[in-house]
Amino acid sequence: MTPPPDGASARLSLRGLLWPARGRLAQVLTWSLVLAGATAAYGALAGPLLRALFGGEALAWPTWLAPHLPPPPSVSTLRRVTPALVLGTAVVKGLAQHRHAVAMARLGQGVVADLRRRLHARVLALPPDAVTAFGAGDLLARGTGDAEAAERLVSQGVAGAARDLLQVIALLVVCVAVDPWLALVAFGIYPLAFWPVARFARRLRRSAGTAHAERARLTTELHEQLRRLPLIQLSGAEAGAAARFGARVDAAVDAAVRTARVRAIASPFTEVLGAIALAGSLAFAVHRIDAGALAAEHVLSFVAALLLLYQPVKGLVRAQEVLQPGRAALDRVDAVLAAPDRLPVGQGQAPPAAAPHLRLRGVTVERGGRRVLDAVDADVPAGAVTALLGPNGAGKTTLAWVLARLVEPSAGSVQVDDVPLAALDAAAWRGAVGWAPQTPLLGRGTLRENVLFGAPEGAEARLDAAAREVGLDAVIAGLPRGWDTPLGDDGARLSGGERQRVALARALARAPRLLVLDEPDAHLDAAGRDAMRALVRRLARGRTVLLVTHDPALAATADHVIRLAHGRRVPAEAAA
Ligand SMILES: Nc1ncnc2c1ncn2[C@@H]1O[C@H](COP(=O)(O)OP(=O)(O)OP(=O)(O)O)[C@@H](O)[C@H]1O
Ligand SMILES: [Mg+2]
Repeated sequence: MTPPPDGASARLSLRGLLWPARGRLAQVLTWSLVLAGATAAYGALAGPLLRALFGGEALAWPTWLAPHLPPPPSVSTLRRVTPALVLGTAVVKGLAQHRHAVAMARLGQGVVADLRRRLHARVLALPPDAVTAFGAGDLLARGTGDAEAAERLVSQGVAGAARDLLQVIALLVVCVAVDPWLALVAFGIYPLAFWPVARFARRLRRSAGTAHAERARLTTELHEQLRRLPLIQLSGAEAGAAARFGARVDAAVDAAVRTARVRAIASPFTEVLGAIALAGSLAFAVHRIDAGALAAEHVLSFVAALLLLYQPVKGLVRAQEVLQPGRAALDRVDAVLAAPDRLPVGQGQAPPAAAPHLRLRGVTVERGGRRVLDAVDADVPAGAVTALLGPNGAGKTTLAWVLARLVEPSAGSVQVDDVPLAALDAAAWRGAVGWAPQTPLLGRGTLRENVLFGAPEGAEARLDAAAREVGLDAVIAGLPRGWDTPLGDDGARLSGGERQRVALARALARAPRLLVLDEPDAHLDAAGRDAMRALVRRLARGRTVLLVTHDPALAATADHVIRLAHGRRVPAEAAA
């Protein structure tokens, strides 16, 4: 197996996610600092504002700070300056709040976009068997829900927590500056809250994890039901489908409500804690004022800071909500990024310019822990049609996939002319192969887009000829917008045989040197099958054709026949 390029298998970490976005993170931190400063100034100004309003004695600095500061301003100065300062602080605070929110969104969205691009690039390089192992619905959930949880981890969990933490620190500084003893009384209770907060975080992690998994199951169920809707309708299984979906909805609601219940503890908890701190410090403040150690306006600044603390402390408690689920989501994304299987990429020799001769020796393939090809020797001569004949499950498609390097053999070798397949530039090789897969794999685009999918420059000129070759021209004539008719999900507006013809035209439009047709006649009518036999003969001109089939009549039109059964090469009479 080709080793992944540098860094591709590095574990996803929060630091690794944030590093490329460090510019945005710096903006977040800058505005967090400004916001913290403005919030602290708000608290600190409350006392002087009171003094300015009610006059009386001149303002005094807190006793322990007084020696270090210039004389305090007079009441008349306060009356002039304080309202303007309060207004200015409010403007700065509002601006910082706004800029921080924008920077936080940019940071989170930037990280999630980066994560989605990486995940998508990795999925594009996953071999089909690895996709099967993950499950399409599961990969979908990782790219949507999990990526969003990672976004919340970065925006609310990092940017939001940085904002709240800096505010808490700034407000604590105000409280300590006003009166260290009062601060000790007020915040002495907070360390006691550590244990309940940790417990809260644990419960939240568990219930949020369950809620996330339930949402993923709900999406998977819906995805599966949509995919199989005609089967559900044909089987009269609507009631069962509704019941299954209903059960998923109920489970998702239960899990979400359980999470909300845990989350709902945060607000009252911080409120009660704040009230205890407030009550304790007020009682102590009265004592200090009576003793002449504290001025009333200091108590007001202190209380203002204490009240301002409520919001950021609550924010910090709530950051727990996104931290644990976010980390679990990152692990799920990381499992895909770090998956060991990877399709071979470019780099290597250019493939031959003419129709190639393929030589397979001892090709052995394991899939899902089972040996599905066992030491197969075979030759696919250049410029001829070779049929690969065998019953269902014989390993025909697997062998064709080995030639396209979608599946890597665990033993044996494939030679293209005289070059090992593994030494060829994989991308250029796939470009030289025209592939009509067993299932047509059509998309929602127009017929033209479907036939031109992945085709090289200039393929448009071959469209009509390719359509004529495979009998698609008659189909196009019946379509409302001809080549420009949209085909719907997986080509849903075409019949099975029509879809197969589109897949054949797509393979031909690439002007390939090797053409692999996997059961090209499976859905064709009698006329289509006759035409296919003649077509296969024509296609061999200047090309190597591998024709996968379990139909001996079609195989009989080939120049050579390779027979497979149970993953082994078998003599003529044992096959089909
Ligand atoms: N993704 C997979 N994981 C594990 N086993 C697989 C996988 N795909 C196919 N197989 C197994 O490999 C064997 C060969 O499958 P393959 O698709 O090559 O058969 P085939 O000869 O093309 O059959 P058919 O005529 O039905 O198309 C089968 O027994 C199948 O169960
Ligand atoms: Mg097959």
